[in-house]
Amino acid sequence: MRIEMTINGALYFADVPPMKPLLSVLREDLGFKGSKEGCGEGECGACSVIIGGRLVNACLVPAVQASGCEILTIEGLGSPNDMDMLQKAFVSEGAVQCGFCTPGMVIAARALLEENPTPTRDEIKVALSGNICRCTGYEKIYNAVEKAVGEGYCDIFRPRENLCSGQAPMPTSESDKNCFTPEDLKEVFEILDQNSDVSILAGSTDIIPDIKNGKYSFKKIIDLSRVKELKGINKVGDAIRIGSCVTNGDIIRSSIIRKYLPALREAAFRSGAPAVQNRATIGGNLSTASGAADLPTILLPLDASVVTEGIGGAREMKLEKFIIGYREPDLKPNEIMREIVIPLPGEKSFQKFYKRGSRKALTLSRISLGFYAEVENGVIWEIRAAAGSMSPIPVRLKELESALRMKRLTGELVEEAAKAAYDEVNPRKSPEWRKRMTSNLVKSFLKELMQ
Ligand SMILES: Cc1cc2nc3c(=O)[nH]c(=O)nc-3n(C[C@H](O)[C@H](O)[C@H](O)COP(=O)(O)OP(=O)(O)OC[C@H]3O[C@@H](n4cnc5c(N)ncnc54)[C@H](O)[C@@H]3O)c2cc1C
Ligand code: FES
Ligand code: FES
Repeated sequence: MRIEMTINGALYFADVPPMKPLLSVLREDLGFKGSKEGCGEGECGACSVIIGGRLVNACLVPAVQASGCEILTIEGLGSPNDMDMLQKAFVSEGAVQCGFCTPGMVIAARALLEENPTPTRDEIKVALSGNICRCTGYEKIYNAVEKAVGEGYCDIFRPRENLCSGQAPMPTSESDKNCFTPEDLKEVFEILDQNSDVSILAGSTDIIPDIKNGKYSFKKIIDLSRVKELKGINKVGDAIRIGSCVTNGDIIRSSIIRKYLPALREAAFRSGAPAVQNRATIGGNLSTASGAADLPTILLPLDASVVTEGIGGAREMKLEKFIIGYREPDLKPNEIMREIVIPLPGEKSFQKFYKRGSRKALTLSRISLGFYAEVENGVIWEIRAAAGSMSPIPVRLKELESALRMKRLTGELVEEAAKAAYDEVNPRKSPEWRKRMTSNLVKSFLKELMQ
Protein backbone atom coordinates (compact mmCIF):
# COMPACT_ATOMS: atom_id res chain seq x y z
CA MET A 1 0.00 0.00 0.00
CA ARG A 2 1.40 3.39 -0.98
CA ILE A 3 1.07 5.92 1.83
CA GLU A 4 2.13 9.55 1.97
CA MET A 5 3.00 11.54 5.07
CA THR A 6 4.39 14.95 5.91
CA ILE A 7 7.25 14.27 8.33
CA ASN A 8 9.06 17.19 9.94
CA GLY A 9 7.87 19.49 7.15
CA ALA A 10 8.79 17.32 4.13
CA LEU A 11 6.70 14.93 2.05
CA TYR A 12 7.49 11.20 2.24
CA PHE A 13 6.09 8.12 0.51
CA ALA A 14 6.34 4.47 1.48
CA ASP A 15 5.05 1.23 0.02
CA VAL A 16 4.24 -0.91 3.06
CA PRO A 17 1.64 -3.41 4.33
CA PRO A 18 -1.45 -1.58 5.71
CA MET A 19 -1.06 -2.85 9.28
CA LYS A 20 2.70 -2.25 9.57
CA PRO A 21 3.15 -0.03 12.64
CA LEU A 22 4.13 3.56 11.85
CA LEU A 23 7.13 3.12 14.16
CA SER A 24 8.54 0.39 11.90
CA VAL A 25 7.76 2.45 8.78
CA LEU A 26 9.65 5.42 10.27
CA ARG A 27 12.64 3.37 11.37
CA GLU A 28 12.92 0.70 8.67
CA ASP A 29 11.49 2.30 5.54
CA LEU A 30 12.27 5.98 6.02
CA GLY A 31 15.36 6.01 8.23
CA PHE A 32 13.93 8.03 11.15
CA LYS A 33 15.63 6.09 13.95
CA GLY A 34 15.09 8.66 16.72
CA SER A 35 11.78 7.12 17.84
CA LYS A 36 12.59 3.87 19.64
CA GLU A 37 10.80 0.58 20.17
CA GLY A 38 10.55 -0.33 23.85
CA CYS A 39 7.45 -2.39 24.52
CA GLY A 40 5.81 -2.24 21.08
CA GLU A 41 2.35 -2.09 22.65
CA GLY A 42 1.70 1.42 23.92
CA GLU A 43 3.08 1.09 27.43
CA CYS A 44 6.47 2.80 27.54
CA GLY A 45 6.29 5.95 25.37
CA ALA A 46 9.69 5.37 23.72
CA CYS A 47 8.07 5.59 20.27
CA SER A 48 6.18 8.86 20.89
CA VAL A 49 5.55 11.11 17.89
CA ILE A 50 3.12 13.97 17.31
CA ILE A 51 0.45 13.42 14.66
CA GLY A 52 -1.75 16.37 13.72
CA GLY A 53 -0.70 18.15 16.91
CA ARG A 54 -1.49 15.23 19.23
CA LEU A 55 0.89 12.89 21.04
CA VAL A 56 0.58 9.25 19.97
CA ASN A 57 2.53 6.02 20.30
CA ALA A 58 3.87 5.26 16.80
CA CYS A 59 3.90 1.53 17.66
CA LEU A 60 0.08 1.60 17.89
CA VAL A 61 -0.62 3.44 14.61
CA PRO A 62 -1.00 1.18 11.56
CA ALA A 63 0.46 2.57 8.34
CA VAL A 64 -2.98 2.77 6.75
CA GLN A 65 -4.05 5.28 9.41
CA ALA A 66 -0.85 7.35 9.17
CA SER A 67 -1.35 8.04 5.47
CA GLY A 68 -2.14 11.69 4.81
CA CYS A 69 -0.99 12.78 8.30
CA GLU A 70 1.35 15.52 9.43
CA ILE A 71 3.95 13.99 11.75
CA LEU A 72 6.62 15.48 14.00
CA THR A 73 9.40 13.16 15.19
CA ILE A 74 12.32 13.89 17.49
CA GLU A 75 14.47 14.61 14.39
CA GLY A 76 12.12 17.53 13.63
CA LEU A 77 13.12 19.35 16.82
CA GLY A 78 16.86 19.54 16.40
CA SER A 79 20.00 17.53 15.71
CA PRO A 80 22.76 16.69 18.23
CA ASN A 81 24.78 19.67 16.93
CA ASP A 82 21.82 22.00 16.72
CA MET A 83 19.41 21.18 19.53
CA ASP A 84 16.25 23.16 20.07
CA MET A 85 15.51 24.98 23.35
CA LEU A 86 13.60 22.05 24.88
CA GLN A 87 16.34 19.54 24.10
CA LYS A 88 18.95 21.92 25.52
CA ALA A 89 16.86 22.31 28.70
CA PHE A 90 16.81 18.49 29.11
CA VAL A 91 20.62 18.47 28.84
CA SER A 92 21.25 21.41 31.15
CA GLU A 93 18.83 20.14 33.83
CA GLY A 94 20.40 16.66 33.80
CA ALA A 95 17.07 15.21 32.61
CA VAL A 96 18.61 13.15 29.78
CA GLN A 97 18.38 9.45 30.51
CA CYS A 98 18.90 6.43 28.30
CA GLY A 99 18.72 6.76 24.54
CA PHE A 100 15.58 4.66 24.41
CA CYS A 101 13.35 6.74 26.66
CA THR A 102 14.65 10.30 26.24
CA PRO A 103 13.38 11.00 22.69
CA GLY A 104 9.88 9.95 23.75
CA MET A 105 9.99 12.15 26.84
CA VAL A 106 11.10 15.19 24.83
CA ILE A 107 8.34 14.62 22.25
CA ALA A 108 5.72 14.15 25.01
CA ALA A 109 6.86 17.44 26.55
CA ARG A 110 6.70 19.17 23.17
CA ALA A 111 3.15 17.84 22.57
CA LEU A 112 2.08 19.25 25.92
CA LEU A 113 3.58 22.66 25.17
CA GLU A 114 1.96 22.84 21.74
CA GLU A 115 -1.41 22.36 23.44
CA ASN A 116 -0.76 24.22 26.70
CA PRO A 117 2.05 26.82 26.73
CA THR A 118 1.67 27.50 30.46
CA PRO A 119 1.38 24.09 32.12
CA THR A 120 1.37 23.62 35.87
CA ARG A 121 3.71 21.08 37.46
CA ASP A 122 0.78 18.66 37.78
CA GLU A 123 -0.11 19.07 34.11
CA ILE A 124 3.50 18.29 33.16
CA LYS A 125 3.34 15.15 35.30
CA VAL A 126 0.13 14.00 33.58
CA ALA A 127 1.54 14.75 30.12
CA LEU A 128 4.61 12.62 30.78
CA SER A 129 2.76 9.83 32.58
CA GLY A 130 2.97 7.52 29.55
CA ASN A 131 6.79 7.69 29.44
CA ILE A 132 7.35 5.25 32.21
CA CYS A 133 11.04 4.59 32.57
CA ARG A 134 12.81 7.31 34.50
CA CYS A 135 15.93 5.80 36.01
CA THR A 136 17.45 9.09 37.07
CA GLY A 137 14.33 10.60 38.58
CA TYR A 138 11.25 12.53 37.64
CA GLU A 139 12.00 15.96 39.05
CA LYS A 140 14.78 16.86 36.60
CA ILE A 141 12.50 16.13 33.66
CA TYR A 142 9.75 18.37 35.05
CA ASN A 143 12.36 21.05 35.76
CA ALA A 144 13.58 20.85 32.16
CA VAL A 145 10.08 21.39 30.80
CA GLU A 146 9.56 24.36 33.13
CA LYS A 147 12.92 25.78 32.14
CA ALA A 148 12.05 25.63 28.41
CA VAL A 149 8.73 27.37 29.13
CA GLY A 150 10.51 30.04 31.18
CA GLU A 151 12.93 30.67 28.33
CA GLY A 152 10.08 31.30 25.87
CA TYR A 153 10.17 27.99 23.99
CA CYS A 154 6.43 28.15 23.25
CA ASP A 155 6.81 31.55 21.53
CA ILE A 156 8.93 30.06 18.76
CA PHE A 157 6.60 27.32 17.45
CA ARG A 158 5.57 27.89 13.87
CA PRO A 159 2.28 26.47 12.58
CA ARG A 160 3.08 23.37 10.54
CA GLU A 161 1.32 22.60 7.29
CA ASN A 162 0.34 19.22 5.97
CA LEU A 163 1.83 18.83 2.51
CA CYS A 164 -0.08 15.59 1.79
CA SER A 165 -2.59 15.57 -1.06
CA GLY A 166 -5.30 14.31 1.29
CA GLN A 167 -5.76 11.25 -0.88
CA ALA A 168 -6.46 7.95 0.90
CA PRO A 169 -3.67 5.31 0.67
CA MET A 170 -3.36 3.56 -2.70
CA PRO A 171 -3.37 -0.26 -2.97
CA THR A 172 -0.21 -1.55 -4.64
CA SER A 173 -0.76 -5.31 -4.29
CA GLU A 174 -3.69 -7.70 -4.58
CA SER A 175 -3.83 -8.18 -0.78
CA ASP A 176 -4.03 -4.39 -0.21
CA LYS A 177 -7.46 -4.57 -1.81
CA ASN A 178 -8.65 -6.28 1.39
CA CYS A 179 -7.99 -3.09 3.34
CA PHE A 180 -10.81 -0.56 2.95
CA THR A 181 -10.47 3.13 3.81
CA PRO A 182 -13.96 4.67 3.44
CA GLU A 183 -14.48 8.41 3.89
CA ASP A 184 -18.18 8.39 4.78
CA LEU A 185 -20.85 6.14 6.27
CA LYS A 186 -22.54 5.37 2.96
CA GLU A 187 -19.27 3.90 1.72
CA VAL A 188 -18.81 1.97 5.00
CA PHE A 189 -22.22 0.30 4.71
CA GLU A 190 -21.69 -0.55 1.03
CA ILE A 191 -18.33 -2.20 1.81
CA LEU A 192 -19.82 -4.19 4.69
CA ASP A 193 -22.74 -5.24 2.52
CA GLN A 194 -20.56 -6.46 -0.34
CA ASN A 195 -17.90 -8.22 1.74
CA SER A 196 -18.10 -10.88 4.41
CA ASP A 197 -15.53 -11.35 7.19
CA VAL A 198 -14.52 -7.71 7.42
CA SER A 199 -12.85 -6.69 10.71
CA ILE A 200 -13.38 -3.15 11.98
CA LEU A 201 -10.48 -0.90 12.87
CA ALA A 202 -10.94 2.26 14.97
CA GLY A 203 -8.08 3.57 17.18
CA SER A 204 -6.20 0.22 16.95
CA THR A 205 -5.09 0.34 20.60
CA ASP A 206 -6.68 -3.03 21.37
CA ILE A 207 -6.12 -4.56 17.95
CA ILE A 208 -2.37 -3.84 17.45
CA PRO A 209 -1.26 -5.41 20.77
CA ASP A 210 -3.55 -8.37 20.00
CA ILE A 211 -2.00 -8.79 16.52
CA LYS A 212 1.46 -8.60 18.09
CA ASN A 213 0.56 -11.26 20.66
CA GLY A 214 -1.01 -13.53 18.06
CA LYS A 215 -4.53 -13.14 19.48
CA TYR A 216 -6.02 -11.35 16.47
CA SER A 217 -6.02 -12.15 12.79
CA PHE A 218 -8.14 -10.85 9.93
CA LYS A 219 -8.83 -11.48 6.27
CA LYS A 220 -10.24 -8.07 5.38
CA ILE A 221 -10.17 -4.86 7.36
CA ILE A 222 -12.13 -1.62 7.23
CA ASP A 223 -10.59 1.50 8.75
CA LEU A 224 -13.18 3.87 10.25
CA SER A 225 -10.68 6.60 11.16
CA ARG A 226 -11.50 8.84 8.15
CA VAL A 227 -15.28 8.80 8.67
CA LYS A 228 -16.17 12.25 10.04
CA GLU A 229 -19.81 11.30 10.80
CA LEU A 230 -18.49 9.06 13.63
CA LYS A 231 -16.50 11.78 15.40
CA GLY A 232 -18.90 14.31 16.98
CA ILE A 233 -19.99 15.00 20.56
CA ASN A 234 -23.34 16.82 20.46
CA LYS A 235 -26.15 17.79 22.81
CA VAL A 236 -29.33 17.03 20.92
CA GLY A 237 -32.57 17.69 22.81
CA ASP A 238 -32.38 15.92 26.15
CA ALA A 239 -29.49 13.62 25.25
CA ILE A 240 -25.79 13.71 24.53
CA ARG A 241 -24.77 11.80 21.41
CA ILE A 242 -21.17 10.63 21.09
CA GLY A 243 -19.87 9.23 17.78
CA SER A 244 -18.25 5.81 18.10
CA CYS A 245 -14.86 7.09 16.82
CA VAL A 246 -14.65 9.85 19.43
CA THR A 247 -11.43 9.28 21.37
CA ASN A 248 -10.86 9.46 25.10
CA GLY A 249 -8.78 12.57 24.36
CA ASP A 250 -11.80 14.17 22.62
CA ILE A 251 -13.95 13.30 25.66
CA ILE A 252 -11.43 14.85 28.05
CA ARG A 253 -11.28 18.08 25.99
CA SER A 254 -15.04 18.41 25.35
CA SER A 255 -16.85 21.26 27.14
CA ILE A 256 -20.17 19.37 26.78
CA ILE A 257 -18.75 16.33 28.58
CA ARG A 258 -17.10 18.51 31.22
CA LYS A 259 -20.45 20.18 31.95
CA TYR A 260 -22.86 17.23 31.84
CA LEU A 261 -20.84 14.04 32.21
CA PRO A 262 -17.86 14.73 34.50
CA ALA A 263 -17.68 11.10 35.62
CA LEU A 264 -17.32 9.93 32.00
CA ARG A 265 -14.54 12.50 31.61
CA GLU A 266 -12.83 11.05 34.70
CA ALA A 267 -13.10 7.51 33.30
CA ALA A 268 -11.57 8.63 29.97
CA PHE A 269 -8.84 10.54 31.83
CA ARG A 270 -7.97 7.44 33.89
CA SER A 271 -7.81 5.16 30.79
CA GLY A 272 -4.19 4.86 29.68
CA ALA A 273 -1.81 7.80 29.28
CA PRO A 274 -2.36 10.81 26.95
CA ALA A 275 -0.80 9.12 23.89
CA VAL A 276 -3.21 6.17 24.24
CA GLN A 277 -6.16 8.48 25.04
CA ASN A 278 -5.54 10.34 21.78
CA ARG A 279 -6.18 7.12 19.83
CA ALA A 280 -8.51 4.94 21.95
CA THR A 281 -12.15 5.35 20.91
CA ILE A 282 -15.33 4.96 22.94
CA GLY A 283 -16.72 2.61 20.27
CA GLY A 284 -13.63 0.40 20.53
CA ASN A 285 -13.82 0.33 24.32
CA LEU A 286 -17.46 -0.84 24.28
CA SER A 287 -17.13 -3.19 21.27
CA THR A 288 -14.23 -5.00 22.93
CA ALA A 289 -16.89 -6.10 25.46
CA SER A 290 -14.40 -6.77 28.23
CA GLY A 291 -14.91 -6.62 31.98
CA ALA A 292 -11.64 -4.69 32.27
CA ALA A 293 -12.78 -1.80 30.03
CA ASP A 294 -13.33 1.40 32.01
CA LEU A 295 -15.96 3.35 30.08
CA PRO A 296 -18.83 0.83 30.44
CA THR A 297 -18.52 1.04 34.23
CA ILE A 298 -19.76 4.62 34.14
CA LEU A 299 -21.85 4.45 30.96
CA LEU A 300 -24.06 1.74 32.52
CA PRO A 301 -25.09 3.96 35.48
CA LEU A 302 -25.51 6.89 33.08
CA ASP A 303 -28.15 4.74 31.32
CA ALA A 304 -26.35 4.87 27.96
CA SER A 305 -27.72 3.29 24.80
CA VAL A 306 -25.79 2.11 21.77
CA VAL A 307 -26.84 2.75 18.17
CA THR A 308 -25.59 0.19 15.66
CA GLU A 309 -26.09 0.60 11.94
CA GLY A 310 -25.67 -1.29 8.67
CA ILE A 311 -27.15 -1.01 5.22
CA GLY A 312 -30.40 -2.51 6.58
CA GLY A 313 -30.90 0.38 9.00
CA ALA A 314 -30.14 1.29 12.60
CA ARG A 315 -30.85 -0.46 15.91
CA GLU A 316 -30.77 1.19 19.33
CA MET A 317 -30.35 -0.81 22.52
CA LYS A 318 -29.31 -0.25 26.14
CA LEU A 319 -25.59 -0.78 26.73
CA GLU A 320 -26.47 -3.68 29.06
CA LYS A 321 -28.04 -5.50 26.11
CA PHE A 322 -25.19 -4.61 23.72
CA ILE A 323 -22.54 -6.36 25.83
CA ILE A 324 -23.83 -9.93 25.56
CA GLY A 325 -20.77 -11.74 26.92
CA TYR A 326 -16.98 -11.57 27.15
CA ARG A 327 -15.70 -10.15 23.82
CA GLU A 328 -19.22 -10.62 22.46
CA PRO A 329 -20.90 -7.36 21.47
CA ASP A 330 -24.35 -7.43 19.84
CA LEU A 331 -23.09 -6.49 16.37
CA LYS A 332 -24.30 -8.16 13.19
CA PRO A 333 -21.61 -9.04 10.61
CA ASN A 334 -22.52 -6.08 8.37
CA GLU A 335 -22.98 -3.52 11.16
CA ILE A 336 -20.82 -1.02 12.99
CA MET A 337 -21.45 0.82 16.22
CA ARG A 338 -22.48 4.30 15.10
CA GLU A 339 -22.95 6.28 18.33
CA ILE A 340 -23.62 6.23 22.06
CA VAL A 341 -26.64 8.11 23.42
CA ILE A 342 -26.71 9.30 27.03
CA PRO A 343 -29.76 10.97 28.56
CA LEU A 344 -29.01 14.39 30.10
CA PRO A 345 -28.43 13.88 33.82
CA GLY A 346 -31.12 15.30 36.13
CA GLU A 347 -30.47 18.70 37.69
CA LYS A 348 -30.14 17.26 41.19
CA SER A 349 -28.04 14.30 40.17
CA PHE A 350 -24.56 13.23 41.19
CA GLN A 351 -22.22 10.93 39.24
CA LYS A 352 -18.89 9.40 40.15
CA PHE A 353 -16.30 7.05 38.66
CA TYR A 354 -13.70 5.25 40.79
CA LYS A 355 -10.76 3.21 39.57
CA ARG A 356 -8.14 1.33 41.54
CA GLY A 357 -5.15 -0.34 39.85
CA SER A 358 -1.65 -1.38 40.73
CA ARG A 359 -0.47 2.24 40.29
CA LYS A 360 -2.09 5.63 39.74
CA ALA A 361 -1.23 6.39 36.11
CA LEU A 362 -1.28 4.14 33.04
CA THR A 363 -2.77 1.16 34.77
CA LEU A 364 -5.52 -1.28 34.00
CA SER A 365 -8.30 -1.39 36.57
CA ARG A 366 -8.17 -3.98 39.30
CA ILE A 367 -11.54 -2.60 40.20
CA SER A 368 -13.71 0.17 38.79
CA LEU A 369 -17.06 1.45 40.05
CA GLY A 370 -19.53 3.90 38.54
CA PHE A 371 -22.50 5.61 40.20
CA TYR A 372 -25.40 7.86 39.23
CA ALA A 373 -27.80 9.15 41.91
CA GLU A 374 -30.62 11.65 42.24
CA VAL A 375 -31.29 12.91 45.76
CA GLU A 376 -33.94 15.31 47.03
CA ASN A 377 -34.59 16.32 50.64
CA GLY A 378 -32.20 13.64 51.86
CA VAL A 379 -33.95 10.80 49.99
CA ILE A 380 -32.32 8.81 47.16
CA TRP A 381 -34.95 8.82 44.41
CA GLU A 382 -32.83 7.18 41.76
CA ILE A 383 -29.61 5.21 41.96
CA ARG A 384 -27.68 3.19 39.40
CA ALA A 385 -24.34 1.52 40.05
CA ALA A 386 -21.98 -0.70 38.06
CA ALA A 387 -18.72 -2.55 38.61
CA GLY A 388 -15.86 -3.37 36.24
CA SER A 389 -12.92 -5.80 36.43
CA MET A 390 -14.82 -8.18 38.71
CA SER A 391 -16.40 -10.46 36.14
CA PRO A 392 -15.97 -11.21 32.41
CA ILE A 393 -18.19 -8.25 31.53
CA PRO A 394 -19.09 -5.07 33.44
CA VAL A 395 -22.21 -5.54 35.59
CA ARG A 396 -24.95 -3.40 37.14
CA LEU A 397 -25.10 -3.75 40.95
CA LYS A 398 -28.86 -4.32 41.18
CA GLU A 399 -28.91 -5.49 44.80
CA LEU A 400 -26.97 -2.44 45.94
CA GLU A 401 -29.36 -0.26 43.97
CA SER A 402 -32.42 -1.91 45.66
CA ALA A 403 -30.83 -1.40 49.07
CA LEU A 404 -30.59 2.35 48.38
CA ARG A 405 -33.52 3.32 46.13
CA MET A 406 -36.18 5.50 47.84
CA LYS A 407 -34.29 5.38 51.14
CA ARG A 408 -33.29 8.28 53.41
CA LEU A 409 -29.55 8.81 53.29
CA THR A 410 -28.29 8.14 56.85
CA GLY A 411 -25.13 6.76 58.42
CA GLU A 412 -26.96 3.45 59.01
CA LEU A 413 -27.95 3.21 55.36
CA VAL A 414 -24.32 3.76 54.34
CA GLU A 415 -23.27 0.73 56.43
CA GLU A 416 -26.12 -1.42 55.08
CA ALA A 417 -25.28 -0.46 51.48
CA ALA A 418 -21.58 -1.21 51.98
CA LYS A 419 -22.52 -4.70 53.21
CA ALA A 420 -24.95 -5.23 50.33
CA ALA A 421 -22.20 -4.34 47.85
CA TYR A 422 -19.71 -6.63 49.60
CA ASP A 423 -22.17 -9.53 49.32
CA GLU A 424 -23.19 -8.76 45.73
CA VAL A 425 -19.84 -8.69 43.94
CA ASN A 426 -18.31 -12.04 43.12
CA PRO A 427 -14.77 -11.49 41.81
CA ARG A 428 -12.75 -14.50 40.70
CA LYS A 429 -9.29 -13.07 41.44
CA SER A 430 -8.27 -11.59 44.84
CA PRO A 431 -11.92 -11.86 45.95
CA GLU A 432 -11.49 -10.60 49.52
CA TRP A 433 -9.48 -7.50 48.48
CA ARG A 434 -11.93 -6.64 45.71
CA LYS A 435 -15.01 -7.15 47.90
CA ARG A 436 -13.58 -4.96 50.66
CA MET A 437 -12.50 -2.29 48.19
CA THR A 438 -15.99 -2.27 46.64
CA SER A 439 -17.61 -1.84 50.00
CA ASN A 440 -15.17 0.99 50.95
CA LEU A 441 -15.79 2.82 47.68
CA VAL A 442 -19.57 2.53 48.13
CA LYS A 443 -19.11 4.18 51.53
CA SER A 444 -16.96 6.95 50.02
CA PHE A 445 -19.55 7.60 47.33
CA LEU A 446 -22.47 7.75 49.78
CA LYS A 447 -20.57 10.01 52.18
CA GLU A 448 -19.86 12.39 49.31
CA LEU A 449 -23.51 12.19 48.31
CA MET A 450 -24.55 13.15 51.87
CA GLN A 451 -22.44 16.29 51.63
C1 LIG B 1 -1.11 0.94 26.88
C2 LIG B 1 -2.60 0.77 26.91
C3 LIG B 1 -3.31 1.13 28.03
C4 LIG B 1 -4.70 0.96 28.07
N1 LIG B 1 -5.36 1.34 29.20
C5 LIG B 1 -6.71 1.20 29.25
C6 LIG B 1 -7.43 1.59 30.42
O1 LIG B 1 -6.86 2.07 31.41
N2 LIG B 1 -8.77 1.39 30.43
C7 LIG B 1 -9.44 0.86 29.36
O2 LIG B 1 -10.66 0.73 29.43
N3 LIG B 1 -8.78 0.47 28.24
C8 LIG B 1 -7.45 0.62 28.17
N4 LIG B 1 -6.76 0.20 27.05
C9 LIG B 1 -7.49 -0.50 25.97
C10 LIG B 1 -7.92 0.34 24.77
O3 LIG B 1 -7.18 1.53 24.67
C11 LIG B 1 -9.40 0.70 24.83
O4 LIG B 1 -10.21 -0.44 24.96
C12 LIG B 1 -9.84 1.50 23.60
O5 LIG B 1 -10.94 2.30 23.92
C13 LIG B 1 -10.14 0.64 22.37
O6 LIG B 1 -10.53 1.51 21.32
P1 LIG B 1 -9.83 1.50 19.90
O7 LIG B 1 -10.45 2.55 19.11
O8 LIG B 1 -8.36 1.55 20.04
O9 LIG B 1 -10.29 0.05 19.41
P2 LIG B 1 -9.66 -0.87 18.29
O10 LIG B 1 -8.42 -1.51 18.78
O11 LIG B 1 -9.62 -0.19 16.98
O12 LIG B 1 -10.84 -1.97 18.24
C14 LIG B 1 -11.19 -2.74 19.38
C15 LIG B 1 -12.35 -3.68 19.02
O13 LIG B 1 -13.55 -2.94 18.82
C16 LIG B 1 -14.06 -3.11 17.48
N5 LIG B 1 -14.57 -1.81 17.08
C17 LIG B 1 -13.95 -0.61 17.23
N6 LIG B 1 -14.75 0.39 16.82
C18 LIG B 1 -15.90 -0.19 16.40
C19 LIG B 1 -17.11 0.34 15.85
N7 LIG B 1 -17.33 1.64 15.67
N8 LIG B 1 -18.09 -0.54 15.51
C20 LIG B 1 -17.89 -1.87 15.69
N9 LIG B 1 -16.78 -2.42 16.21
C21 LIG B 1 -15.78 -1.59 16.56
C22 LIG B 1 -12.88 -3.63 16.69
O14 LIG B 1 -13.30 -4.39 15.59
C23 LIG B 1 -12.13 -4.44 17.73
O15 LIG B 1 -12.72 -5.70 17.85
C24 LIG B 1 -5.38 0.39 26.96
C25 LIG B 1 -4.66 0.04 25.81
C26 LIG B 1 -3.29 0.21 25.78
C27 LIG B 1 -2.53 -0.18 24.55
S1 FES C 1 7.30 1.13 21.98
FE1 FES C 1 6.51 1.34 23.98
S2 FES C 1 4.84 2.68 23.67
FE2 FES C 1 5.52 2.26 21.67
S1 FES D 1 15.70 2.69 30.84
FE1 FES D 1 15.47 4.46 29.69
S2 FES D 1 15.44 6.02 31.13
FE2 FES D 1 15.51 4.27 32.28
